[in-house]
Amino acid sequence: MTGPAIVATDVTRTYELDGVSVPALRGVSLRIESTDYLAIVGTSGSGKSTLMHLLGGLDRPTSGTLLIGGRDVATLGPAEMARLRNETIGFVFQSFHLLARTTARDNVALPLVYRGVGRRERRGRAAEMLDRVGLAHRLDHRPNQMSGGEQQRVAIARALVTGPSVLLADEPTGNLDSATGQSVLALLESLNADGVAVVLVTHDKDVAARASRQIVMKDGVIVS
Ligand SMILES: Nc1ncnc2c1ncn2[C@@H]1O[C@H](COP(=O)(O)OP(=O)(O)OP(=O)(O)O)[C@@H](O)[C@H]1O
Ligand SMILES: [Mg+2]
Repeated sequence: MTGPAIVATDVTRTYELDGVSVPALRGVSLRIESTDYLAIVGTSGSGKSTLMHLLGGLDRPTSGTLLIGGRDVATLGPAEMARLRNETIGFVFQSFHLLARTTARDNVALPLVYRGVGRRERRGRAAEMLDRVGLAHRLDHRPNQMSGGEQQRVAIARALVTGPSVLLADEPTGNLDSATGQSVLALLESLNADGVAVVLVTHDKDVAARASRQIVMKDGVIVS
């Protein structure tokens, strides 16, 4: 990709809940270069996940402009947004979002279905990614047959299987013991060295310190 991967300019996001407006983001400007390794930190409720959902094209700003891969999301319909996401972004959610009745391998292979990749190749690539996150022995386990850390690693493998240019990870090491957390960080670092932009949310100072850049959020704005 040439040019910045994502550019947000004075972006806000206000949730409407039972007639009450909740201003989760109150004007955020952020530029993510295609070589970036950025950590987002900040207290609970400061808007980190809300921002990540916007950066990943899962949600749209209430106001401001957001360019993903040079395209203004305000000009894209739902199908175009879905396609842009599938081609550009890998997303690791704070709460995994795995399909409960589906094996690890088929969870990881799912984004490839939307790409029209054949079943045999999907299964092969999913197994390869699961091997990379240390789960070659859990291919046929369903989420409820795996530990929290294993589910987190399945979610990471699923985010990576399409070869995204940007990986967005919301607390990717939050549920992991320190050894497994270290291996996930090493994986993110090697991806970044291979030219994938990495943005992660973390509460862990040591994890944040390993990124090349940090932003701190408070009350819906970037404070440093
Ligand atoms: N769907 C929603 N409807 C209404 N309010 C919401 C919704 N999602 C989030 N919020 C509110 O928006 C604010 C920001 O939430 P967000 O999830 O972005 O925080 P966060 O920084 O990711 O927190 P944490 O560290 O706990 O994950 C919070 O005050 C939260 O209560
Ligand atoms: Mg969050």
